[in-house]
Amino acid sequence: MALPLVNIFFILLLITSLDLSLGLKCLFSEKFEVHVINKLPPGSPQLKLHCASKDNDLGYHDPTIDGDFNWSFCSALFGRTLYFCHFWWNSKDKAFDVFNSEFYCVKDQKVVNYLRYCKWEVRSDGFYLEQYNNETKAYYMTHYLSWP
Ligand SMILES: *[C@@H]1O[C@H](CO)[C@@H](O)[C@H](O)[C@H]1NC(C)=O
Ligand SMILES: *[C@@H]1O[C@H](CO)[C@@H](O)[C@H](O)[C@H]1NC(C)=O
Repeated sequence: MALPLVNIFFILLLITSLDLSLGLKCLFSEKFEVHVINKLPPGSPQLKLHCASKDNDLGYHDPTIDGDFNWSFCSALFGRTLYFCHFWWNSKDKAFDVFNSEFYCVKDQKVVNYLRYCKWEVRSDGFYLEQYNNETKAYYMTHYLSWP
């Protein structure tokens, strides 16, 4: 009895990681997108970033001003997906989770993200996350963290 259940579990895990790597429609989970947009002042030092999850390293990138570094993924079973990014700019650096919650993008946000779409902006005063006001139906950016 226990063995077939374990097998089913591993087959599900295999399928979800397959559709993650192929970037196709998610079979048993939701598809999410994360966008990181470079909104630093033109002419300022180059932004560098490195984003990864436990099993998916997205590499090092140097996005141009207004450049949108983005990726999509299928959420892991039981909502365990976590992506973090490390940012370097102007001899400062900061690392934090950019996705660790299917409802809020990041767990410590209070506003529910209905869109399965997490939009970050990197600015000279820190990191902003887009939120949606369901009363005014407007999107707005909230200051989430500062550079150190
Ligand atoms: C997402 O990234 C790709 C490059 O990987 C880029 O071509 C595209 O414009 C980006 N998406 C948006 C909405 O900017
Ligand atoms: C807007 O959000 C609040 C709580 O966040 C909720 O109580 C309310 O039902 C929502 N309104 C709509 C129109 O979705």
